[in-house]
Amino acid sequence: MSLLIKNGTLLLPDGARRGNLLVVGDKIASVTATEPRAESAVDADGMVVMPGMIDPHVHFRQPGMDGEDWLSGSMSALAGGVTTVLDMPNTRPPTTSAPLLSEKIRLIEAQTAGGPCVNYGLHLGASRSNAKEVLAAGLGHPPSRRRRRAASLKLFMGSSTGELLIDDDRALKELLGTCRLTSVHAEDEAVIRASAGGRDHLSRRPKEAALSAIRKLLSWGTPGRVYVCHLTSGEEVDLASPFYREATPHHLFLTDDLMRTMGSFAKVNPPLRHESDRASLWEAVAGGRVDCIGSDHAPHTAASKGRDDVSSPSGVPGVETALPLMFNAFLKAGLPLQALAALTSWNAARIFGISGKGALAVGFDADITLLDPKEERKVSAEGLHYKCGWTPYEGMAIVGWPKHTFVLGEAAYSEGSFSKAKGRSVVYEV
Ligand code: DOR
Ligand code: ZN
Ligand code: ZN
Repeated sequence: MSLLIKNGTLLLPDGARRGNLLVVGDKIASVTATEPRAESAVDADGMVVMPGMIDPHVHFRQPGMDGEDWLSGSMSALAGGVTTVLDMPNTRPPTTSAPLLSEKIRLIEAQTAGGPCVNYGLHLGASRSNAKEVLAAGLGHPPSRRRRRAASLKLFMGSSTGELLIDDDRALKELLGTCRLTSVHAEDEAVIRASAGGRDHLSRRPKEAALSAIRKLLSWGTPGRVYVCHLTSGEEVDLASPFYREATPHHLFLTDDLMRTMGSFAKVNPPLRHESDRASLWEAVAGGRVDCIGSDHAPHTAASKGRDDVSSPSGVPGVETALPLMFNAFLKAGLPLQALAALTSWNAARIFGISGKGALAVGFDADITLLDPKEERKVSAEGLHYKCGWTPYEGMAIVGWPKHTFVLGEAAYSEGSFSKAKGRSVVYEV
């Protein structure tokens, strides 16, 4: 099977260029100025052709929880230009062992039998007693020849949704020492506990919780082996400079003001902060000091989010809006789209060691999305595919919505429709 994506603006590793992309089977076969013959063709005239987003941070909630499943999650991802997700382990039960990783894969395949499936990788959950499982999942340091089964070890230093929490410094040190790559929810539980009497969510999880956790990582973590999730300000980004650094769209586009209008629907960990933090986080992204955009897609049902701001769960959905929001912002600010492709695809592939993905380059997997830089459309929950049925960006007008998304060479999403194109479990580089 061959497919020609023609006359698009291609975001190639060495720059943006108008041209044609030939896909044969599940791989990119050539990038040319001329038009090679192919069995089918898609006209990308006026569109930006990007490597599909690799979202290193989603919570698809299976097994055992409400809010999302792998079919609704896959549809949301694909309609948002995301072709690979790395799923978090704070499910019921949490994904803390090799057999539980296998079980999750079986569940993903079963849940997506009737529709498309995004490519996926899984993070292993850190618990106080599973250093052995880190080795069994091939995540030990120094890297062994054991086959790697997970993208990283996910470690919660502060409590959030689910029961995974490492608030004991000795266990934290041991796990950081044992593991070749740890993704960290860096908020210090001791600071969170000491702030329990605060009048709102932001004061109960102050920035000091994040800074204090990063300081601990600086003492016990090793550069190149720690990925700090969802940094919320330039100050945190700078403090975490020896490590890989992630920012989320919600911390880049929303502030704590939203709790006044949306209440607990805007409650998330770490919290949405002040406008000055949001602005400094953007400066860090624009200045190249952030490695990855992760959506931290963390859906909860509207019923549970409708409760008061102490008892309602934390988290906002975002996998379907992450790339369009970022694309729109980069375009309007005149930032290079090349840098966006690195932030949304290339860097995640290299950091998490995902083989054959992250670029429009010959021999790479044909995971591709075509974004329309002209047509402006408002974000609306109705137009999205989330099971939870709501979005914190309701009403925001943006360009950059995907028109087509290809997974391993097959159109998985095209102008509102889905096929049964199947992504696969990612393969890790050694
Ligand atoms: O707000 C959050 N929601 N932060 C987390 O760390 C977890 C996530 C979730 O799973 O709901
Ligand atoms: Zn987190
Ligand atoms: Zn998360």
